[in-house]
Amino acid sequence: MIAKIFISLLRISPKFQRAMWKWWYQRLAKRATDSGWTFMNYGYISLNDNSSIDLKAEDESNRLFIQLYDYALSQIPLENKKVLEVGSGRGGGASFIARYYNPKLMTGLDYSRSAIELSNKIYNNVSNLKFVKGDAENLPFDDNTFDAVINVESSHCYGNMKSFLNEVCRVLKKGGHFSWVDLRGKDMIKDTESVFAELDLKCIHEQTITSEVIEALDGIHERKMEMIKLHVPKFIQPAFKDFAGVKNSKIYNAFNDGSAVYLAKAFQKS
Ligand SMILES: C[S@@+](CC[C@H](N)C(=O)[O-])C[C@H]1O[C@@H](n2cnc3c(N)ncnc32)[C@H](O)[C@@H]1O
Repeated sequence: MIAKIFISLLRISPKFQRAMWKWWYQRLAKRATDSGWTFMNYGYISLNDNSSIDLKAEDESNRLFIQLYDYALSQIPLENKKVLEVGSGRGGGASFIARYYNPKLMTGLDYSRSAIELSNKIYNNVSNLKFVKGDAENLPFDDNTFDAVINVESSHCYGNMKSFLNEVCRVLKKGGHFSWVDLRGKDMIKDTESVFAELDLKCIHEQTITSEVIEALDGIHERKMEMIKLHVPKFIQPAFKDFAGVKNSKIYNAFNDGSAVYLAKAFQKS
């Protein structure tokens, strides 16, 4: 089912869209909990910079997913800061930030209870990291709490992007940074841009990174196919292939023919 509706989900009624994604991510968080699967983004490979981040041996297998985070974080200071990730999934990205960027406290937030339980279980040995359940459109934090907010490949699931961005502005401290990366259908770019334009945040970086994401999807294809074969029952493998963006999936083809794009933006609150 997801295979058929993945791209159209980006366009249907906000309420239904929200409910469908919530159902999907709750199910996903209960799958393959001992497999080492801790990232759910499409990855990133730089096309013009050969230098690559130094990773510990245990993180190498997640290099391409980590590189999407590393790219998104390249514009914003994190050392000794209070950092929030909205839509932290299985916790791999928040753990990477906590272990490599030395924030004072890294908080991962997701609306999937199972994802939060799983993340807290896997990463209970990382002292500056915690995971809490919450909704991107109604963040459970006081005003002016965080120095930085990051949002990686999650906002396409939200019912109301404007509510989410208002919440980001609210919980960010003055001078704080916000980094966002996500996919959009080509016909949604104008709406997305106008919601960002209304924000009381100064844009400090923006780039379309579809080619870099396609490069990563090509690089991760074999591993994803192997994981799907190993951990996913046959009858939902087509849906998983589409979700994972393997070669010739709907989303992979949409990136290649230009009907979907992958965008990146960074902002500062003045
Ligand atoms: C594609 S995954 C990306 C996870 C993680 N950022 C990564 O790169 O591995 C999207 C995540 O957003 C979460 N999400 C979707 N809608 C949300 C909402 N309204 N509030 C909080 N989390 C949400 C999902 O549960 C899922 O874990």
